Amino acid sequence: MSEDIHLAGVIGDPIGHSKSPILHGHWLKRYGINGHYIPIHVARDDFADVLKTLPKMGFRGVNVTIPHKETALQIADTITDRAALIGAANTLTFTTSGTVQADNTDGIGFLANIKQRFPDWKASNGSALVLGAGGASRAIVSALLGDGVSEVILVNRTRSRSEALRDQLGARIKVADWTKIPEVLPHVATVVNTTSLGMVGQPALNIDLTGLNKDTVVNDLVYAPLMTDFLLQAEQAGANIVDGLGMLLHQAAPGFERWFGQRPDVDNDLRKAVLSA
Ligand code: ATR
Repeated sequence: MSEDIHLAGVIGDPIGHSKSPILHGHWLKRYGINGHYIPIHVARDDFADVLKTLPKMGFRGVNVTIPHKETALQIADTITDRAALIGAANTLTFTTSGTVQADNTDGIGFLANIKQRFPDWKASNGSALVLGAGGASRAIVSALLGDGVSEVILVNRTRSRSEALRDQLGARIKVADWTKIPEVLPHVATVVNTTSLGMVGQPALNIDLTGLNKDTVVNDLVYAPLMTDFLLQAEQAGANIVDGLGMLLHQAAPGFERWFGQRPDVDNDLRKAVLSA
């Protein structure tokens, strides 16, 4: 019977590149769940209509990606605090009464990824240097603040975007220019690249990391390539490095649990499945 089949998916435009069907598909198989997770290609103008229809088709929820993350928040009936703070949703859950609950799990995915690799790491270990002030940065900065970071030094090509983030997210954020990075590096416990620099097809992220403290955790959100030049340099400087794939895996877990009723493991098998697809 169709009502016994759990359905979920990911909505975006484009959607062909999304890794979410592979990782949810891996979990469905691993836990023997009678369900499907499918990519759904929906143009911006059709998003609201599709969202009304999916629950009627038996969908329990969906992930949303570009260009729907902000619209999803406006359409949803209820919004979690963290989604409101970030200003975008990535995980929608349809309730039995047909309402839409919007959440953003990017920040908890980011924290869970680093904590899995370095269990003693906490944002409160010190201050953090965050490169970039776009959508991803907003999620990372909110998560760092929520985990007790003492100070976030925010560096972005377009300074006004860093200033806007500081004005919205608060006094623990200090805006700095790229030229200040060498001065800052020896004093930070965490460094995160949230820009697209270093990604396949994008310009390189050129920063001299020789001044890095050896206890510092360096995380690159870029995961294609998995080992970016930025992470290689950080490793050579003796820092603790964390790649960006884990955040993608961890941010998916809360949705899977809500829709399919099973808390999934983020482990090496999952990484291998996503990397080999
Ligand atoms: P996302 O949602 O992935 O964060 P975004 O909002 O487009 O995407 O933000 C991309 C980030 O990468 C921004 O911080 C952007 O800097 P600007 O705000 O100055 O655009 C940064 N970025 C992208 N290309 C860049 C480049 N060539 N040099 C420096 N920063 C770049």
